[in-house]
Amino acid sequence: MPMVKISIQALSLQYADGTESLRGINLDIHANAITVLFGPAGGGKSSLLRCLNRLNDLTEVRTLAGRILVDGQDILDPKTDVIALRRKVGMVFARPVVLPFSIRGNLTYGLELAGERRKSRLDEAVETSLRQVALWDEVKDRLDDPAIALSGGQQQRLCLARVLALRPEVILLDEPTSGLDPISTGKVEASLQELKRNHTIILVPHSIQQAARVADYAAFFLQGELIEYAPGADLFTAPRDKRTGDYITGRFG
Ligand SMILES: Nc1ncnc2c1ncn2[C@@H]1O[C@H](COP(=O)(O)OP(=O)(O)OP(=O)(O)O)[C@@H](O)[C@H]1O
Ligand SMILES: [Mg+2]
Repeated sequence: MPMVKISIQALSLQYADGTESLRGINLDIHANAITVLFGPAGGGKSSLLRCLNRLNDLTEVRTLAGRILVDGQDILDPKTDVIALRRKVGMVFARPVVLPFSIRGNLTYGLELAGERRKSRLDEAVETSLRQVALWDEVKDRLDDPAIALSGGQQQRLCLARVLALRPEVILLDEPTSGLDPISTGKVEASLQELKRNHTIILVPHSIQQAARVADYAAFFLQGELIEYAPGADLFTAPRDKRTGDYITGRFG
């Protein structure tokens, strides 16, 4: 059996305005695999990702019930060290926001904040994280150029590299290739296939096609409910629930 990295148990989330964005979600996320959360707009996918590194602490929430065990520890426990959690569980957003620094500076910023001063260690992190996202060869001769001068696809990979430089165990990706051309998208997807050897990856895809391409496991969300969860190879070829089937064949959504 694959190892369970994150166990989501009876998770319910209601925002301050009364919107129920997650209803009784039970989901075990496996280590060293890509788990895809997909479904129509407003289904609760981003809300769930935000719960996994406590980003919902920043929004107004009426109720948040249930448990999220990461390596067996309930991260919703008020005693959780949220800074440490966010190093362990890193998040990459849909729209890349590079920092107004050089390419190198984007990658060393987080480590320097965390107290790393050794140049050898910082240089190593820059090269390793850029190689992990297949960006090293494209930028190695201009690491001190402003990051903003990179193309959109390169900026997206730089943002992923920035998260990787902090060596998270879990990577959350919310539509990381929305707005990218197919070639850049292919590069990001190939990077994820490498990264899953050593990381747990949870991805909200930008299309059903992407979901089917990358999912080791796939979870279909509809209006705050988890409708179906299965290995990707099963869910996209033989969905058990009619609503899943209708959605993946384009009959709604
Ligand atoms: N900060 C918030 N305050 C109030 N309601 C919110 C907030 N964020 C999300 N919601 C609501 O919660 C529900 C789930 O939203 P969420 O963004 O998690 O869906 P999603 O599956 O990521 O959708 P999309 O595919 O459009 O990104 C929606 O009804 C949304 O309007
Ligand atoms: Mg979303």
